[in-house]
Amino acid sequence: MSIATAQSAPSLRHLVGKLVVVVGGTSGIGYSVAQGSLEHGAKVIISSSSQAKVDAAVTKLLKTNPLFAGSISGLTLNAKDVKSIEAFWDKVGKFDHLVWTAGDPLLTNFMEEDLDTQKGIFDVRFWGPVLSAKYAYKKGLFNPGASVTMSVGTVVRKPSKGWAMTAAVAGAVESITRGLAVELAPIRVNTVAPGGVETELWDGMTAEAKAGLMTFFGEHSLVKRTAQPEEVAESYLYLMKCRNVTGQTIDVEGGALLA
Ligand SMILES: NC(=O)c1ccc[n+]([C@@H]2O[C@H](COP(=O)([O-])OP(=O)(O)OC[C@H]3O[C@@H](n4cnc5c(N)ncnc54)[C@H](OP(=O)(O)O)[C@@H]3O)[C@@H](O)[C@H]2O)c1
Repeated sequence: MSIATAQSAPSLRHLVGKLVVVVGGTSGIGYSVAQGSLEHGAKVIISSSSQAKVDAAVTKLLKTNPLFAGSISGLTLNAKDVKSIEAFWDKVGKFDHLVWTAGDPLLTNFMEEDLDTQKGIFDVRFWGPVLSAKYAYKKGLFNPGASVTMSVGTVVRKPSKGWAMTAAVAGAVESITRGLAVELAPIRVNTVAPGGVETELWDGMTAEAKAGLMTFFGEHSLVKRTAQPEEVAESYLYLMKCRNVTGQTIDVEGGALLA
């Protein structure tokens, strides 16, 4: 039940009192990052495009630990809309850490998707965090010691057939991780590249197909199990807490690249 305080051991107190903004925090990996940040004593703003999902996530988190009361709030942002992004950061004001896990449905049929659809895959995963970081920087919203952590996936190193454009956006994010680390320094910028994780991302599939995919993820890994979102969330917490890491993409994939 207890959460970290300023008296906790060093590895637990880095986020105490810090404001962590999780765009994509209403489900999956982002939700677990929000929960972990709250347990580390941070204040958290959860965001996604749906007010109903934001409200539901805040309520759910408060149920997991009543000590989160007063430390959590929600704010909507449509990452496809530049005006919405700017209005969001104007409302947030100064903050310490941005975690970007927002992502819309993946593109998995390269040969059949039209150009507009393929161009659109860059909106939420690439332009959303990049425009956010640039706007927040120019407005002076980053507190000293701030960081930005973005998200890609194993697809960045090993695309499956049909996933070429999803691999392309992941590559763009990985590349601009280094670019932004230089542009924004000393603000740190990193990215997490998970393998398969059991989250709501796959809820567009039938329950049977999702179960089959989760089994596939586990079998095509070295750890022989499918990751849960709270396990991957550990890497985002590490990247926020460790003030000596920037410009990096961290693979958290259970050895899927070696299997
Ligand atoms: N799960 C995996 O197996 C896996 C593996 C590798 C990489 N990843 C990547 O890791 C990231 C997080 O994945 P996840 O599994 O946690 O996904 P998820 O559970 O589907 O969560 C995605 C989040 O993005 C938000 N979102 C979608 N469109 C948005 C928009 N236009 N503006 C603002 N927010 C938006 C969603 O909320 P709303 O719908 O309310 O907007 C939700 O909060 C994604 O980039 C995903 O591609 C996931």
